[in-house]
Amino acid sequence: MPETTGTARAHPGVPVRRLTRWALMHGVVRAAGARAARRGDLHATFMNDDRYRADPFPYYEQVRARGRLVQGSLASITASYDVCQDVLRSDDFRVGPDEDFLPGPLGRIVAWARDPASLGPIDPPSMLAVNPPEHTKYRRLVSKVFTPKAVEGLRTRTQEIADDLLDRMAGRDPVDLVQSYATLLPVAVISEVLGVPAEDHATVLRFGHEGAPALDVGLTYRDYRRVDAAIHGFQAWLGNHLEHLRRNPGDNLLSRLVQLEDEGQRLNDAELRATAGLLLAAGFETTVNLLGSATVMLLECPDQLAVLREDPSLWPNAVEEALRLEGPVQLTGRFADRDTEVAGQRLRKGSLVITYLGGANRDPGVFADPTRFLVRRKNARDHLTFSAGRHICVGAALARLEGEIGLRSLFDRYPDLALAGPGRRRTTRVLRGWEQLPVRTRALQQA
Ligand code: HEM
Repeated sequence: MPETTGTARAHPGVPVRRLTRWALMHGVVRAAGARAARRGDLHATFMNDDRYRADPFPYYEQVRARGRLVQGSLASITASYDVCQDVLRSDDFRVGPDEDFLPGPLGRIVAWARDPASLGPIDPPSMLAVNPPEHTKYRRLVSKVFTPKAVEGLRTRTQEIADDLLDRMAGRDPVDLVQSYATLLPVAVISEVLGVPAEDHATVLRFGHEGAPALDVGLTYRDYRRVDAAIHGFQAWLGNHLEHLRRNPGDNLLSRLVQLEDEGQRLNDAELRATAGLLLAAGFETTVNLLGSATVMLLECPDQLAVLREDPSLWPNAVEEALRLEGPVQLTGRFADRDTEVAGQRLRKGSLVITYLGGANRDPGVFADPTRFLVRRKNARDHLTFSAGRHICVGAALARLEGEIGLRSLFDRYPDLALAGPGRRRTTRVLRGWEQLPVRTRALQQA
């Protein structure tokens, strides 16, 4: 059956494989979720109630009040810090279900519906969706470039990029901070690391933004079609780009990945595209949310901004505190790889545990006065926003650097920065941030 490619439909007939993929990945979950929500299942209620998209935090409180691990019909859930950390670090858990998760015929339908051109960030062989030994192999190939020491070498260039973007914002009041700054800084930095030319930034940003709901489960078919088209487009662009780098290698990570000589290290085409695509998309679809959310918090807490003006050495800690309180990634999940026990409760092999990182970060047992934004907070850096265990974010040091330089430079350059309207939040559940944030760079009387 013909499929769509990019945004163009190859055949006017119904793309049965895409519909099947949606039904298996999202449709079944939607139907089961709606039934479970009617019975009062907490996680299903979260998935079905749009109020929690704007503000999931009261929900996490409900989960924590119900117990450290709450078993439901779709998944077991936790918003408790120690339980989230234990699950994420445990060898009893894996990412993605194992092969015998689905009964025979269903497994065969899934395999048939799979489309190599539509593999997203949480589909194998993405690093996020595989376990050792594959995970170890992919991670080893890329992690050297993102160590804190290596990332420190990007400081000067990151500062130059930030300064240039801030120059361009001058005199454009009111200006959308997300479109003109928060989005552009991370994409420019990760593109230099990976070897993506500036003229392609707008294209990858568009695909990344349209494809971001791929992290959410339970999409409507309409939303899934849009996401699927974006992933097709992104994969097509990526294939061409990697081919270009194969013929014209440069001094960048993707050029090195396409040129790997060692038989044991070399990545096949799907692995290469999954690794490159994840690094690129994770590199710009997350930090944008840190910059947007932290800016709002700082503007809403002028006393904390004043503390930073007094003592700029606190900027890195302010970034940690913003990551804790308004994490750009709110949740993740793991499957039990064997029968096991969590928080004193037995879980059978194959059970799914959803870890609400955004809830763990506000656990009053770990963070005193957890809902307050306090740039001097001693243990702000203990947050779980970058996850924990073997999948802990590869790009954490880079995100921290971009957060520190991006925010400090913005507030230094525009000391009168102010919100110029209500802004619009992203509607994704896993990713949390702002889609639009109108600001004024100059005080009103001077404007
Ligand atoms: C504030 C910004 C960021 C946040 C909040 C964030 C968050 C996360 C989280 C929560 C995970 C693990 C998910 C899980 O355990 O299931 C992760 C993994 C990952 N992140 Fe980030 N990330 C950010 C920035 C970046 C950047 C800048 C890069 C660019 C290199 C990046 C690349 C990755 C990769 C490749 C993985 C997969 C690691 C693995 O599976 O071993 N991230 N990130």
